[in-house]
Amino acid sequence: MPVLGSLPHLRSPLPPHLLFSKLASRYGPLFGLYMGPHYTLVVSEVGLAREVLLHRGKDFAGRPKMVTTDVLTRGGKDIAFADYNTLWRILDAAESLCLDLQSCRGQSVDMGPILMRAVTNVVCRLVFGSTYDPQDPELQQVIDYNDGIVQTIARGSLVDIFPWLQIFPNNDLARLRQCVRIRDELLTAKLEEHKLTLSPGEPRDLLDALLSGSGGESGVTDDHILMTAAEAFGAGVETTSTTLLWALAFLLHHPEVQDRLHAELDECVGRNQHPSLSDRTSLPFLESVLCEVMRIRPASPILIPHVAMQDTRLGDHGVPKGTRVLVNIWAIHHDPKHWEKPDLFIPDRFLDDTGKRITPPSYLPFGAGTRVCVGESLARIELFLLLSCLLQKFHFSVPHDASLPDLRGRSGVVLQPQRYTVTVKLRQ
Ligand code: HEM
Repeated sequence: MPVLGSLPHLRSPLPPHLLFSKLASRYGPLFGLYMGPHYTLVVSEVGLAREVLLHRGKDFAGRPKMVTTDVLTRGGKDIAFADYNTLWRILDAAESLCLDLQSCRGQSVDMGPILMRAVTNVVCRLVFGSTYDPQDPELQQVIDYNDGIVQTIARGSLVDIFPWLQIFPNNDLARLRQCVRIRDELLTAKLEEHKLTLSPGEPRDLLDALLSGSGGESGVTDDHILMTAAEAFGAGVETTSTTLLWALAFLLHHPEVQDRLHAELDECVGRNQHPSLSDRTSLPFLESVLCEVMRIRPASPILIPHVAMQDTRLGDHGVPKGTRVLVNIWAIHHDPKHWEKPDLFIPDRFLDDTGKRITPPSYLPFGAGTRVCVGESLARIELFLLLSCLLQKFHFSVPHDASLPDLRGRSGVVLQPQRYTVTVKLRQ
């Protein structure tokens, strides 16, 4: 297996997922390199990815200890975020998103902040039960500190690769600490309110559910509860709202796909009732559009790093304990061995000849196995309900004075589209 040396020496203007894809086409689907002091394997093929995530999932279930994640999680006191099925809260948020948009109809709008508000609102409802009006300053506060955390983490990953940078004054780390302080104050206030009004056996939201399982022998402390709640925002907001932004960007490029979605919704749901989760099976094209969006622009083009927790193997190679593994989902989703014309947006590839939904094997937008995204089913529900409600009511087009969105994407913590505007029209 080729070992390439140290990442900083491989100077390149490319973002990591593209740099690693380029290196994979030269050195093969498994190569090693040093990221700072850490020996790291880069996996770019689905068979090897399945070995890391599924067949040897337990061996590779570790996560690197990073400076930024330590600041975020009080030294790793988060626990897996449990699914919390409160569907009506999402429906409610979808409705308020549509009201929000109705007031913008005819104008050209940046959907970024609007979708971010809608998705943050869903997470606030699920986590601590607050129902915010879109203009509520507390909702804006949540959005601002979350954004501050996400932005500084993107730049702060340098500190993670070179931990000794921490000894230098670092504005980003200071901003991260400040945002985390505001976040913790708000969440602590919510937690204290919840303790006073908790009614056993009747959890109203995630904080209640965690509180009823905490204390005593469970070992679950207030810190665990706060960090789990915070994780829902950190992991769940940017990813979901960005996926919706990509979906609209591709629909602007493919008006014929938007027409088909409108026709499917009109036929299967009509205009008079809101789409509900039970419509999922009767809207296979809408589902396949969402799948194709997450294939062609995965929010997380490289999975969160995994770490070998013991000596193990990968392919024909021995892997020492402590090795980091980066799974390049971008390469897997654009592998010409598995995808015909991988650079083209073709939602039909997720449908069989009879129009039923299929999931090709080289498709892993949420990862898989032991460390799979714990918010996957929530995210899928949110994406489905928000996109179907939007398309039932509205038509999206490129404003006269604007050009089509740039589809190349810029990488931060998630892969985001460049900012773009749309004209929103109420459908007749
Ligand atoms: C479109 C939306 C989303 C996408 C594409 C996405 C994708 C991912 C991916 C690729 C991972 C890493 C898997 C790995 O390293 O093997 C992950 C982890 C995670 N996600 Fe998501 N996610 C989304 C939404 C959410 C939501 C809504 C939540 C919670 C409310 C969430 C919570 C988490 C958590 C807690 C982890 C860490 C799991 C662990 O380390 O064991 N995600 N997600």
